[in-house]
Amino acid sequence: MSFISTTALQQPSPSPGDSRYRIAADAMATIVIFGVTGDLAGRKLIPAVYNLWRAGFLPERIAVVGVARKQKTDAEFRAEMCEALKKYSRTGHGESDTCDPFVANLHYHSLEFSADAAEYRKLGERLSAMEQRAGFAGSRLFYLATSPEFFAPVTERLGAAGMLDDRPEGPWARVVVEKPFGEDAASAEALNRSLRAVLSERQIYRIDHYLGKETVQNIFAFRLGNAIFEPLFHHHYVDHVQITVAETVGMEGRRGAFYDQTGALRDVVQNHALQLLCLVAMEPPARFAAQDIRDEKLKVLSSVALPFGDPLETWCVRGQYAEGGGMPGYVAEQGVAPDSKTETYVALRLYVDNWRWAGVPFYLRTGKRMASRVTEIALQFRRPPTQCFKDLGVNLPQPNVLSFRIQPDEAISLTFSAKPPGMEFLLEPVAMDFRYGTAFEQDLPEAYERLLLDALRGDSTLFMRADEIERAWRIVTSVRDAWKDAPLPELYRPGTWGPPEADRLFAGCQGSWRAL
Ligand code: BG6
Repeated sequence: MSFISTTALQQPSPSPGDSRYRIAADAMATIVIFGVTGDLAGRKLIPAVYNLWRAGFLPERIAVVGVARKQKTDAEFRAEMCEALKKYSRTGHGESDTCDPFVANLHYHSLEFSADAAEYRKLGERLSAMEQRAGFAGSRLFYLATSPEFFAPVTERLGAAGMLDDRPEGPWARVVVEKPFGEDAASAEALNRSLRAVLSERQIYRIDHYLGKETVQNIFAFRLGNAIFEPLFHHHYVDHVQITVAETVGMEGRRGAFYDQTGALRDVVQNHALQLLCLVAMEPPARFAAQDIRDEKLKVLSSVALPFGDPLETWCVRGQYAEGGGMPGYVAEQGVAPDSKTETYVALRLYVDNWRWAGVPFYLRTGKRMASRVTEIALQFRRPPTQCFKDLGVNLPQPNVLSFRIQPDEAISLTFSAKPPGMEFLLEPVAMDFRYGTAFEQDLPEAYERLLLDALRGDSTLFMRADEIERAWRIVTSVRDAWKDAPLPELYRPGTWGPPEADRLFAGCQGSWRAL
């Protein structure tokens, strides 16, 4: 199988607009990936570095050092990454017979994460020797793709080994921390304290890959780059907002053990769904800059109010997928306890209790093994007054819906009422659609490409700040507290939209879950 063309080796220049994102050789850092033998590195991280390199955003000569416990030679590591690129890279398939030119930049270093600082110093010496030989400046981007219990110990040891010094004018050190960042409010705060003991906030990049998705960033463009839509994001016009993160996959034979300790609320709501909520609900920032945007997101999270005064089943429903369609039920998945009560689906009704959004319900739902894979944010608007139509006996207009389709079939769509041709005056909902695929004939970069490039360039706009993540955990922790004496998750049939009980969240409101 082939995937790199010889022309790729000449590294085509990024388009003129993109060229200011190109990293010059003397500004490039060594990328050090801890936990490189895990799934994420092979599926996402190495392909992301490859695509950035191939598109000319990175210099021709780079160094990526994979770190993990297993013993492995550079040659073995390169061969494995070559296979991973063939499987998972979005570009480059079928163009050449060899991936040598890229994987020659990859190196492997075996290290027990819990080893003492002396072992970490050996890693440091190897990095320095490599950087000196290649004439690199010595800046380093450490990417923690390990299991979460190692985030703090690895960072502490890097600090103790003197590898996290950060000089504004000289070589820098940054640390990207994967999710899950903590498992509740207290553990997230503790992790932030551990990181801050050896790093300053500007060195820490807490990742949520949803923020790197093109369509998620387009929410900013849509809201802030158009005069006509932004005023509509307001309780005067919006009846309710729905955020759906639905997946068809289950545990994929490998995630059961992790997921069973986590569940849908902590796996997806704490991060991806609440981040989407922030982008749709936040005030326009003073400047399009990391601090301003993160300040506004924090205000949204601080305003989130859960309707604790209402019975739990009217604002929160948990589900767990049953057996069906020839697939095992959740409790029969590898790594899952046979009597597990972990939720694979959760739906919530909550409020952003501020001036702009007063009284507007936000409905969030996420689940595994659902009817289709779709991530969407939809704003349903209030119905127009209909007195003038009452004598016609016609159907009433459907509410307008503005939807952001994050994935797949990335699109923005606005439905409105139109009169179908004919003598009779009728109202029918029609849609105005903007589709990425049609409007821009361009492959969308993967989220990890964008985020890795931003971390290398020192732009933390699309990463989460400590206070944001802690606030999001406080929301999720208070939901979990409310579950303590609550009934167990409802079983739902795989390939559906979750337990029918979730419809209760709309009781007394106009609307229902969108059929997607
Ligand atoms: C991850 C969750 O953060 O996001 C997974 O841990 C989930 O359970 C994944 O499948 C979804 O990401 P995407 O990009 O496929 O929508």
